[in-house]
Amino acid sequence: MEHVPVLLHESIDGLRLSEGAVVVDGTLGAGGHSSEIARRFGTSVTIVGFDLDADALELAGASVKDAGGKLVPIHANFRTIVNACEQHGQSEIDGALFDLGISSMEIGESGRGFSFKYDEPLLMTLANPITSETLTAAEVVNGMRENELADMIYKYGEERFSRQIAKAIVLARRKAKIDSSLQLAEIIAESVPASYRNGRINPATKTFQALRIYVNDELGAAVEGIRGAWKLLKKGGRIAVITFHSLEDRLVKNLFKELKEDGGQIITKKPLIPTRKEIEENKRSRSAKLRIIEK
Ligand SMILES: C[S@@+](CC[C@H](N)C(=O)[O-])C[C@H]1O[C@@H](n2cnc3c(N)ncnc32)[C@H](O)[C@@H]1O
Repeated sequence: MEHVPVLLHESIDGLRLSEGAVVVDGTLGAGGHSSEIARRFGTSVTIVGFDLDADALELAGASVKDAGGKLVPIHANFRTIVNACEQHGQSEIDGALFDLGISSMEIGESGRGFSFKYDEPLLMTLANPITSETLTAAEVVNGMRENELADMIYKYGEERFSRQIAKAIVLARRKAKIDSSLQLAEIIAESVPASYRNGRINPATKTFQALRIYVNDELGAAVEGIRGAWKLLKKGGRIAVITFHSLEDRLVKNLFKELKEDGGQIITKKPLIPTRKEIEENKRSRSAKLRIIEK
């Protein structure tokens, strides 16, 4: 599945880069945003790009190269931004972009079980390749205590049927290990009221979101990554963050308020959202919000 960059021009315009700048792309993905920077500035801007997914790094590397840009690819969590940038000789940056979450390639048939639409191993980790230390969603659903599971599904999925779902998971795993995305989706569907099962969204949507956020500690990584970028940022530099759900957006809004106390100027009093045209062309963009802060 091809990944279409979201709020592309709004975010790159918002960074206000100029020749000679060093910019961090915390979430390279398919390299959509980085390629736009490359098209605008060629090799006069250095892009330091992160991704946990080796396939994304390769894809982004090729697209930035095709667009005539200069990329320093880093296969690591963007929460390590301070150390990683310093190790690569970049102790000061002019801007940073975080396009949070997962790409269309990952939600599509990536073989990692991010979607309830495909029958895949229940991994849900952004880390690719996986090592013996990588936490997987299968470990969580088969190992976590029922009340913790329910709290996690409620907290990160804002799922009102979290208790019923956690109970059904625990009952099911006593009979057989839960190790595929479809198996989990079926357990969830059977545990919720029929009105919810046949409702507007798939009943597994929120539980899958919760598991993905938990497995990858997405909120913790976002806080650390943005704080790290702030530390490296030169005066006058900007950070742009694109979020896709209310938990992320709330987190960024509150974090920016904190950074305002540290001399930050919030550029987007209200977050920028995609135009109706963008949403028509790319459904994935419908919940996107862009917030920008200047140091
Ligand atoms: C929404 S996609 C980015 C798409 C990209 N901006 C584009 O337009 O092609 C998010 C990417 O960030 C990566 N990612 C998410 N959280 C990460 C983290 N904490 N550290 C490093 N990479 C991360 C995912 O693997 C995914 O490839």
